[in-house]
Amino acid sequence: MVKPKKNWEKHLAGQPNALAVDFVESLSYDKRLYKYDIVGSIAHAQMLAEQKLITKSEFSQIKNGLIEIGEKISDGKFKFDKTYEDIHMAIEAALVAKIGDAGKKLHTGRSRNDQVATDIRLWMRDEIEILQTKITLFQKAFVKLADKYNEDLMPGYTHFQRAQPIVIAAYLLNFVEQFERDFIRLGNCSELLNVSPLGSGAIAGSTLPLNRISTAKQLGFSAVSRNSIDSISDRDFAAEFIFDCSLIAMHLSRLAEDWIVYSSNEFGFIRIDDSFCTSSSMMPQKRNPDMLELIRAKTGSVYGSLIAMLTILKAQPTGYNRDLQEDKIHIFSADDTVSASLDLIREIALNTKFNTKKISANINAGFLDATSLAEYLVEKGVAFRHAHGIVGELVTYCEKQNKSLAELKLDEFKKYSTAIEKDVYSWLGAENVVNKYVSEGAAGKKQAKEQIAFWNQQLAKR
Ligand code: ARG
Repeated sequence: MVKPKKNWEKHLAGQPNALAVDFVESLSYDKRLYKYDIVGSIAHAQMLAEQKLITKSEFSQIKNGLIEIGEKISDGKFKFDKTYEDIHMAIEAALVAKIGDAGKKLHTGRSRNDQVATDIRLWMRDEIEILQTKITLFQKAFVKLADKYNEDLMPGYTHFQRAQPIVIAAYLLNFVEQFERDFIRLGNCSELLNVSPLGSGAIAGSTLPLNRISTAKQLGFSAVSRNSIDSISDRDFAAEFIFDCSLIAMHLSRLAEDWIVYSSNEFGFIRIDDSFCTSSSMMPQKRNPDMLELIRAKTGSVYGSLIAMLTILKAQPTGYNRDLQEDKIHIFSADDTVSASLDLIREIALNTKFNTKKISANINAGFLDATSLAEYLVEKGVAFRHAHGIVGELVTYCEKQNKSLAELKLDEFKKYSTAIEKDVYSWLGAENVVNKYVSEGAAGKKQAKEQIAFWNQQLAKR
């Protein structure tokens, strides 16, 4: 039996090409929007009834029909037919099949162009809240870990060379800061996208007396969009969302990279729990940090989505173009990847231990106290540039003698600067240095504890 043609394609001759049917459909991925499509349709139908464009009875038939369809989809009992192209047509066709003529009135004054623009915004608004919650949970896990290591030291690195001593808590809290900005960025994205495009129709609005404020209010939008042409073609928010996901992925990749290195035998700074490691099929001794490697790698796919989204948008002629349908592939993919990585990293963090004994056994290697010594000289009235030179020479001397700065005798110091007195020793050694940090936000114990208190208070509000 030849399937009846879709009723909005009456003027097209013959049946669609089978390859074209497969190529054009988005139902396979946009079915994920079904709840938002139904909610948007109910709001639209209620507004049509308020405006007397449909009767109250038609509205209740539409509403009940849509709710039943929604339940059927969530129960997995709905049969998706890709010849309907997308979730919007699949639901509308099911509604007409269920309630008949009243269903045919639902699309009054509406196009799939403003419909899909509305659906994605509604979906993204919710998804941003979910991502923000996951970020908060991640931050809480890191603050907890920081609190555990608020007295223990590690080397801070620049150029991946030992630089200055830091408290482990400060290292961990640096990630809490990064993810705080990600949280805020997502919030900004949500605020900007939260305007209703519904009622913009295909491109030019409608000759029917639609009440756009009513649908916007029902759907919790903060305003209606000003310009119908922009409303149906704007996907700035989609690119922005994926950019926000990209920065989250980038932050995660830096953390993953650190911990892959820190968990190696060469470093041995941390031990990731066995439940997050894999072994080798050949080498029985292996404990591989595969989860972290995958988190690092997945950044590539999120960046790929960003480039894809920006490229899809580039040079599109004004108005809606089918190109826009591809937005969802990349929005969903970036969201799924980042969402899963955030879940995992939080669990990993809650089950990771810092090997503080091993770290502290070697904490005085690499002249982490050299800058502190230069600052000591500044306190003694030596100009910083001059002090820098003196300490540079002292380090060269120590390297030749195979000694640390703290191991030098006072008369050895005196050969390089007469400004050095016996109080110098309280400025040397990682522990002393960390206790001397006084500037705001420095990587010392006192500052880390203040930051932990700040975050505990801040995150408790969420
Ligand atoms: N599936 C389409 C999309 O995601 C819906 C809009 C189609 N509009 C159209 N005029 N063909 O963009």
